[in-house]
Amino acid sequence: MANVKLTNIYKSYDKTEVIHGVDLSINNGEFIVFVGPSGCGKSTLLRMIAGLEDISSGTIEIDNEVVNEVIAAERGVAMVFQSYALYPHMTVYENMSFGLKMAKTPIDEIKKRVEDAADVLQINDYLERLPKQLSGGQRQRVAIGRAIVRKPKVFLFDEPLSNLDAALRVQTRIEIAKLHKQLSATMIYVTHDQVEAMTLADKIVVLNNGIIEQVGSPVELYNTPRNLFVAEFIGSPKMNILNLQNQNDIFTHNLQIPNNASMVGVRPEHLIVSSEKEAKFHGDIRHIENLGEHLLCYLNSSSGKEIIAKLDINSNINVNDNIYLSWDISHTHFFNSKENAVA
Ligand SMILES: Nc1ncnc2c1ncn2[C@@H]1O[C@H](COP(=O)(O)OP(=O)(O)O)[C@@H](O)[C@H]1O
Ligand SMILES: [Mg+2]
Repeated sequence: MANVKLTNIYKSYDKTEVIHGVDLSINNGEFIVFVGPSGCGKSTLLRMIAGLEDISSGTIEIDNEVVNEVIAAERGVAMVFQSYALYPHMTVYENMSFGLKMAKTPIDEIKKRVEDAADVLQINDYLERLPKQLSGGQRQRVAIGRAIVRKPKVFLFDEPLSNLDAALRVQTRIEIAKLHKQLSATMIYVTHDQVEAMTLADKIVVLNNGIIEQVGSPVELYNTPRNLFVAEFIGSPKMNILNLQNQNDIFTHNLQIPNNASMVGVRPEHLIVSSEKEAKFHGDIRHIENLGEHLLCYLNSSSGKEIIAKLDINSNINVNDNIYLSWDISHTHFFNSKENAVA
């Protein structure tokens, strides 16, 4: 395991700059997740750490050594891709041992490492099969196994679960979390799935258009997003944002609004049905989804803004009702006109 440090990283493809100066310190053994919308630069950043992509400027250090000029095979990193990237004509055993064979690792050592990794991943029974004789989930385990046998300093994952069905995704996610504990390895994991980000990460890095918007623990990002982008990106359904200038939408007398605030945000799960006197908001119910454990209630404010409230399953509400909503003051998020959070 190792630390990883990115300093002032820029990347251009031809004349188009896609990474605009990224600084990031990753500690030994940390599980880091890169999240952000499609095209924001997650894979590019990961591939630059792996050495699969040149950087345009800046420095990358792994284990306190600048690796800008070090080729991928010698960086001590192993990458797992969404597409698995297994050799179709090789058995599972051959796929997992290939890298070690190339590195001229002794046969006995190869055998031991492959068997140990197969134990961890519970794929011992498939070692003689070809990739096409495996399910998607089994293939992805082989790809992870191929990374483990190399005993890398850093594991890199690029959306490894995206090709799996929902149930398998959850199961494999939990296995990756266990694997991280077991190996105490440094892991950098790219996903656009926020549940994966929230559940796996020690630290989440929120990327947007080639810059870092915020770095923090999942709870920090959820509770104290630095700006509107992070506030709306973390959490599902996303945070409701209301313009404080729309005095008809918000009962401002029930909120202590900082001078420089122009928007207020509240998460759907923090809204509660209230009396008119205590209300901070009111709206007409347009649609209700019953998800068994709770109701997702879609409301329109008087200015026409759509708000989503996650309400108790026993709430006595119906479509077309005009209802009053409130929230605990500690769950209020304010933003200024530059979209930065204000206290
Ligand atoms: N080989 C390439 N040539 C030119 N542009 C690229 C190349 N790879 C990625 N890009 C561009 O770089 C940006 C970041 O891409 P990428 O890192 O793949 O995003 P993400 O993984 O977050 O979806 C995108 O605008 C993409 O079009
Ligand atoms: Mg990508």
